[in-house]
Amino acid sequence: MTQIPVGVLGASGYTGRELCKLVLAHPCLELAFAAANDQQGTVARVGGHQLVFTPASEAPLNQVALVFSALPHGVSGAWVQRANAAGARVVDLSSDLRPGRGVDATPLAKNLAEAPYGLTELCRAAISNAEVVANPGCYPTAALLALAPLIERDLIAPNASIIINAASGVTGAGNSPTRELLFAEVTEDFRAYGVGNSHRHVNEMRAAVDGWRGRADLDLVFTPHLLPVARGILASMVVPLRTALADPLAPWREAYAEEPFIVVSPDPPALSHVVHRNIVSISACMVVSRQPTLLVMSAIDNLLKGAAGQAMQNANLMLGLPEHLGLPS
Ligand SMILES: NC(=O)c1ccc[n+]([C@@H]2O[C@H](COP(=O)([O-])OP(=O)(O)OC[C@H]3O[C@@H](n4cnc5c(N)ncnc54)[C@H](OP(=O)(O)O)[C@@H]3O)[C@@H](O)[C@H]2O)c1
Repeated sequence: MTQIPVGVLGASGYTGRELCKLVLAHPCLELAFAAANDQQGTVARVGGHQLVFTPASEAPLNQVALVFSALPHGVSGAWVQRANAAGARVVDLSSDLRPGRGVDATPLAKNLAEAPYGLTELCRAAISNAEVVANPGCYPTAALLALAPLIERDLIAPNASIIINAASGVTGAGNSPTRELLFAEVTEDFRAYGVGNSHRHVNEMRAAVDGWRGRADLDLVFTPHLLPVARGILASMVVPLRTALADPLAPWREAYAEEPFIVVSPDPPALSHVVHRNIVSISACMVVSRQPTLLVMSAIDNLLKGAAGQAMQNANLMLGLPEHLGLPS
């Protein structure tokens, strides 16, 4: 069978390397290029293969069916435009094209402004035919896949504020050297950052929630934390309900019964259940409190389900392949 050529921009980064690994192990894809910036020319061992990172400027964008852009936000949008103009379909992992990108962001060309949000399980119909897909952020993936069944079933109390506390491993910040991410700075510590709803994922999550069943009355209070592990996100969400649920797991069991990458369990999820897998693990229980309140927990691998794995689900759909191909469940 002829392999489909695809390329990775930002291949030397954490999500880019993960994408290269998935492409190299994929039964129907071949890696036509792996492009980098400062690390161009570097030889790296990725997924048991030796890769030489080419300069992004030399990436043969017109010779591939699809490009994964794993570039930083602010850089990615222009490359997405370039790749799409050269004839490639694109999955963009940055926040440049996502909903809620902000009023100050650079205006986008029409084809990019209309890129569907790539939360695969909820947006399949739009993704399959899209030229360009905006892959969701890691925290929004963990939170939105867990909250969607409650919003779709209109179970959340009117005018509720949902409290989302989430902790991520340090690969969430990428692999550019930063003093506050040095081993000695993060180890044996645990801290919040982006407090007061100032993290850019708040706008992305709000924009998605506003669009679902017109629930613009809902708000979110999101506090991310830095966890001294390499990978994984664990989110705990406190959700005020209209009325108590007799079976707190029923919304997810109904909504995701056929989903291979969503695991619903009465046991609270742990990072050890999800790292190196393309799954989201979801649990929920009623909270003993004066108002009907649900605690929802979800865990993902930020580099797989929160980035490269979800991007591969989307690419498979765009290329007419089975969605689960080449992905660890
Ligand atoms: N890390 C996560 O958990 C995660 C999850 C979801 C989404 N994302 C998003 O995915 C994207 C990549 O994240 P990451 O964590 O993989 O970042 P990263 O580790 O910092 O990697 C960034 C990549 O972009 C390349 N690059 C930087 N500036 C460039 C430029 N001007 N021209 C061409 N290439 C350039 C880098 O090349 P050199 O290293 O060679 O300079 C590197 O390959 C970001 O937009 C991020 O927000 C990340």
